[in-house]
Amino acid sequence: MHCSKANEIMEREKFSSKFGALMVIIGSAVGLGNIWRFPYMVGANGGAAFILLYILFAVIICLPVMLAEISIGRKSRTNAFGGMYRLSGEKKFWKGASLLYLVTPCLITFFYCVIGGMTIEFFFRSFGLNIPSGPWWTLLWTLLFLGCNAMIIMGGVKDGIERSSKIMMPMLFVIIVLMALRSITLPSSAEATTGALDGVKFLFRPDFSKITAQTAIAALGQAFFSLSLGSGVLMTYGSYVERHYNVRTISWQIVLSDMGFAIIAGIAVIPAVFALKADPAAVLSDNMDSALVFEILPEVFPMMPLGGVLQPLFFFALFLAALTSSISQFEVPVAAVMNDGKVSRKKASLILLAVFTVGCTICSLVPKTISIFDAIASNWLLPIGGVLAVIFIGWFYSKEEFRSELSSGDLYPTGNRLFGFVLLLIKYIAPLGVLAIFLSKIFLTR
Ligand code: PFF
Repeated sequence: MHCSKANEIMEREKFSSKFGALMVIIGSAVGLGNIWRFPYMVGANGGAAFILLYILFAVIICLPVMLAEISIGRKSRTNAFGGMYRLSGEKKFWKGASLLYLVTPCLITFFYCVIGGMTIEFFFRSFGLNIPSGPWWTLLWTLLFLGCNAMIIMGGVKDGIERSSKIMMPMLFVIIVLMALRSITLPSSAEATTGALDGVKFLFRPDFSKITAQTAIAALGQAFFSLSLGSGVLMTYGSYVERHYNVRTISWQIVLSDMGFAIIAGIAVIPAVFALKADPAAVLSDNMDSALVFEILPEVFPMMPLGGVLQPLFFFALFLAALTSSISQFEVPVAAVMNDGKVSRKKASLILLAVFTVGCTICSLVPKTISIFDAIASNWLLPIGGVLAVIFIGWFYSKEEFRSELSSGDLYPTGNRLFGFVLLLIKYIAPLGVLAIFLSKIFLTR
């Protein structure tokens, strides 16, 4: 048994470069959550006040969770289902608890691929094609998107996930920056009473009276979803990261890039609405979820100079963002089935493709399930999954081992003060922060 474990550790697939590893992990983080969900969340929850809360949670709660998850993956060199089990000395409890990391990415994939499919549909629609709509068409786009995922996953860690992310992420970055530049330089339309700069002010001028428990819940849920925390993704990807990369630096880079992307995406969307729509604040707070990107933007694009080019470009960017994130959810159970079921990558991918096809079919044909699955996963399962990881590291794992993992052996020593601070965040602040938000959620929804 020890021999096969040693083989598995030795043969485990790896990312081939630091840049590749970063593109893949940032690719998982930057997704529909940044471009589709973040601008609407900001709109509905008081603009910059929400952004400030989001940044606060990202640093004091999400960053420690991220350090814990990547460390578990990299140290155990196995998938999310087996990581804590292996590190705990094979205690059954941790295997049972890690079932969560199989359920959550599946649940997210079921609905995420429907929105991913919509990005393809809207890409084609933006050329003015008259495409029929209806549940069966939605299913078709969804399955097409799911198929793109399966192809990449079957290619493997290096040749599939890493190679595609190294191409897609820089492309996504360039397009979103272009869109943001276009958005802030838009002249106001005849019907608008505000300008693009009012949109920028809306994003960056905080109104603290808007901060309520409800806003805090939304900000924490958004931060977890956006950083792909609590789903097993960072454990799985962490297990492909080389020992000599600095986990602390990688984690900061992920958090900053994700935040940067979300804010640039906000600038790409919100000032455009302020420049072109009458009563933009009402438009933003009334158009929850997909409506902002899939209904309001298609109305806004034709009104702007170069809109005919920018519209397909925007939906292409959305497609890239969605794909690099959904492959990370796909990979989590695939890695688990490969390791625990001792089957090939191809076979594991096909098994999961079958499971996802069933789940995605339900979400495509019964759209109500999308928001139900989203709420269960984002508001409950992701925070619980994240807390499980910090509780494991903070309370049940050797401090010396964790410190050595954070320091990559002794390549990047973690000083006493820094380590003490990280432990404080991991042991107390992150779990208590999530608990406080759960409690207020329970009392608020009564
Ligand atoms: N982080 C992704 C986004 O912002 O769209 C969504 C996501 C990916 C959530 C992977 C969870 C996950 F496991």
